Amino acid sequence: MCGIIGIISKCNSNVVFDIVNGLEKLEYRGYDSAGVVVVGDNGLQRLRTVGKLKNLEDKLKVNPISGAIGIGHTRWATHGKATEENAHPVLTKDVALVHNGIIENYKELKSDLLQKGYKFESQTDSEVAAVYLQMQLDNGFDPREAFRKMLRAVKGTYAFLVIFKNRPDMIFCARNKSPMAVGFGKDVCVGSDASSISANCSEIVYLDDGDYAEVTKNGATFFDNDFKVVDKCRVAVTDDLINTGKGGYSHYMIKEIMEQPSAIRKTLLSNDVPEAFFDNISRILILACGTSYHAGLVGKYWFEKYLRIPTHVEIASEYRYRSPVIEDNTLVLVITQSGETIDSLEAMEYVKKNNSTCRLAAISNVLNSAISRSADCVFHTEAGVEVGVASTKAFTAQLTVLAKLAFSKNSKLLSQLQNLPQACEDSLLLKNDIDKIAYKIKDCVNAIYLGRDSLYPIALEGALKLKEISYIHAEGFAAGEMKHGPIALIDDVVPIICLCPSGDMFDKMFSNIQVAQARGKNIILFTDSVGAGSFDGSVEKIILPSINQELYPILYSIPLQLLAYVVTVLKGEDVDKPRNLAKSVTVE
Ligand code: M6R
Repeated sequence: MCGIIGIISKCNSNVVFDIVNGLEKLEYRGYDSAGVVVVGDNGLQRLRTVGKLKNLEDKLKVNPISGAIGIGHTRWATHGKATEENAHPVLTKDVALVHNGIIENYKELKSDLLQKGYKFESQTDSEVAAVYLQMQLDNGFDPREAFRKMLRAVKGTYAFLVIFKNRPDMIFCARNKSPMAVGFGKDVCVGSDASSISANCSEIVYLDDGDYAEVTKNGATFFDNDFKVVDKCRVAVTDDLINTGKGGYSHYMIKEIMEQPSAIRKTLLSNDVPEAFFDNISRILILACGTSYHAGLVGKYWFEKYLRIPTHVEIASEYRYRSPVIEDNTLVLVITQSGETIDSLEAMEYVKKNNSTCRLAAISNVLNSAISRSADCVFHTEAGVEVGVASTKAFTAQLTVLAKLAFSKNSKLLSQLQNLPQACEDSLLLKNDIDKIAYKIKDCVNAIYLGRDSLYPIALEGALKLKEISYIHAEGFAAGEMKHGPIALIDDVVPIICLCPSGDMFDKMFSNIQVAQARGKNIILFTDSVGAGSFDGSVEKIILPSINQELYPILYSIPLQLLAYVVTVLKGEDVDKPRNLAKSVTVE
């Protein structure tokens, strides 16, 4: 993953502050270490620290560096531990480099360079690219030739930014499967995403795989895979790319939870489903990861029930490695918040290569992302920039698009969707009740989430939310499956969080809860006022607004997000930047 940024000031002012600001917007991509390098009269000056960006900011106060051209990096470790020596920028005598991706042939390159007498300081794969460049300079090649030779030598995925000591007016950058945008405005910038450079730029060019660019304060020249100059289209920086900060909230996650009614409202207003969208489609294949995969599982329940089209949901990271049968006329739906998840992108490309009769659609929260650009058709979730690593508003917006698709031939259900934003708004008022539950479970080691039918994926998602930010081990189960094994986990302390509103599945779910209650003491119920009437005071109850049962997955996601949030705050963990995670997963 990792976030990279480069800035060239047009008026020769110091870019370090702007680089750090940009890195702050990229920290969602990783926060194991951070670093910056500038080039100027004093040559290449570098500063790096382990841990979050704040540490780099503190170090810069004590040891300021300055220059009108610089590159920065925030790391999500792949090769080598999160230490300062493994932090980027990587430096040699004449080269500074930042890298996002994985250089797959780094061992061969490294052993060759070692044999030639070059030394290495880190355990990273990235360092071979920098040392390789140094070798080419030592062999007498100029920076451009050295850069091109390096691009030919490395195999794998990359977004590179490189500065040469002897070319202090230029940033060289290249992309293969790792995102990169070049921006123009007050300054000329390069970043892993448009949001990181939007403060300084009004127009953006997205690099495609195999492209490289030479960037100066006067603009950029773009080259394709054959090093031929190419014209690239500039697009305006739009509001949906701009991270507007925490807006007075203590964390992005709670701000984003609170934004859900508006995100759902906006998503309902856009994304009209073309009349003939499902014509000649014999099946639907949904490809996604993590939370987006859970949205896909809900989609399966809805699509099969209301469109009667067989639907398969696949974990994108598994899909292309198991020789799947891709039937003709399949509608492939890739669901993604970031639009950059490499597993989802590659699964989509695999379908493209192997069956040309398939139609490829994406549900994406980022316009112009790699997945959005690769799909034949895009439904855009209008959630706005999501910064918290734990996905919240993007998830319910994905579900909203899926509901619009699934109910597109059912006018009664389509009109029911209009009740959602208000019901979601009312559910946010339950925060005080949820605070009390959170106190009770914050010290637990394990938690169980139970649901049935389309609330089963929401049990999975509730458990994922809790475990990824609070580090409490949580598992979601289909409630009817408990008796086939997981029931052994129940004891007097483990919280059993049950999704049991009134409706078609209520009686079955009620029985499953009785079975759990006969063995455990800590039942927490999320229900509506009708459902609550069937339970006595021995269970904790959170009572949600009433709504059409088909919309439960969207509504019931919200209190589970709140629960995970409050538990994590009580535990004093970093809600927005949980350990080991990154928001945009661009390595396999
Ligand atoms: O950007 P994507 O939706 O493709 O990302 C997929 C997963 O990495 C993501 O949903 C992840 O599981 C989140 N941490 C969940 O909160």
